[in-house]
Amino acid sequence: MERKKLRRVGILTSGGDAPGMNAAIRACVRNCLQHDIAPIGIRRGYQGLIHADTVEMDARSVNGITDRGGTILYTARSEDFMTSEGLDRAVSTIKYMGIDGLVCIGGDGTFRGAKTLADKGVNVVGIPATIDNDIGCSHYTIGFDTAANTAMLAIDKLADTMQSHERVSVVEVMGRHAGHLAVYVGLAVGATSIIIPEFPFNFDRDVIEQIREGRMRDKHHHLIIVAEGVGKCDEISRGITEQTGLEARVSILGYIQRGGSPSARDRVMASRMGHFAIEQLATDNGNSIVCYRDSRILAVPIDKAMTMTKQLDAYMYKVAYDVTI
Ligand code: F6P
Repeated sequence: MERKKLRRVGILTSGGDAPGMNAAIRACVRNCLQHDIAPIGIRRGYQGLIHADTVEMDARSVNGITDRGGTILYTARSEDFMTSEGLDRAVSTIKYMGIDGLVCIGGDGTFRGAKTLADKGVNVVGIPATIDNDIGCSHYTIGFDTAANTAMLAIDKLADTMQSHERVSVVEVMGRHAGHLAVYVGLAVGATSIIIPEFPFNFDRDVIEQIREGRMRDKHHHLIIVAEGVGKCDEISRGITEQTGLEARVSILGYIQRGGSPSARDRVMASRMGHFAIEQLATDNGNSIVCYRDSRILAVPIDKAMTMTKQLDAYMYKVAYDVTI
């Protein structure tokens, strides 16, 4: 049977933004043009789909955006899209606009949205982009490397002042449900202790004992990294002062981790994934998620991808503790 030629492909970014989303948009747009497909930008994610907030794109409309953080298409977390009325309106926009393929760039919420559209007969491809790196089917998500570098550089600066004052730093890094960023950054900065939602945490053993041992080894600064999903930084800081007599200060890195010019890794990964997503649509391999697994970019059917899980790198966590002595 002859393959149906795609004419118009929609591209949207949804959920929390991630550095590298622009490079993914650029790659999608330009590979569409290679296939004679018209790329249509959809602004503000699924909310934009509901309101037909679209923009025709061409090669020049994505000029000079690879080095820019954020997303030129804007993003949103759409509550309207969760309602059956909102979903129906989104599907109507797709039909009315003649969109016969849709690229959804974002994290787990974005993929849940993509799956509901797929169930309604829309031809979708997802691209994983979130600084949390918490997508089960992919070993890497766009934005993680940049966020890790941003956090690392900020903590290096904090360490300078904390060291001079011989204080303890309690630093919260992003990661709503996942500690991938906390462990990676913790290893990069030589954290005393890394507290993440995946592993049970014992305050006396994992924080106080670690600090005591560090002091016995003549350490003058102790750095406790806490994943956002655990929180409780003020409580942890108070507990440290009460039990050790040391001054502690809390720093919440927050949204700066989501911004900034993407690293080379994120630009390259986003460009490869964006290009690959359009190849999937052009070769009739839609309803899939683009994944990075074992150093390869591949497509996993969306139904399967949504059931896949990935474990936190427990070995990296152990390395972080073993080398902090
Ligand atoms: O999913 C990425 C992320 O940055 C999480 O680490 C964080 O918890 C969340 O988004 C914050 O979301 P919002 O932009 O809705 O405040």
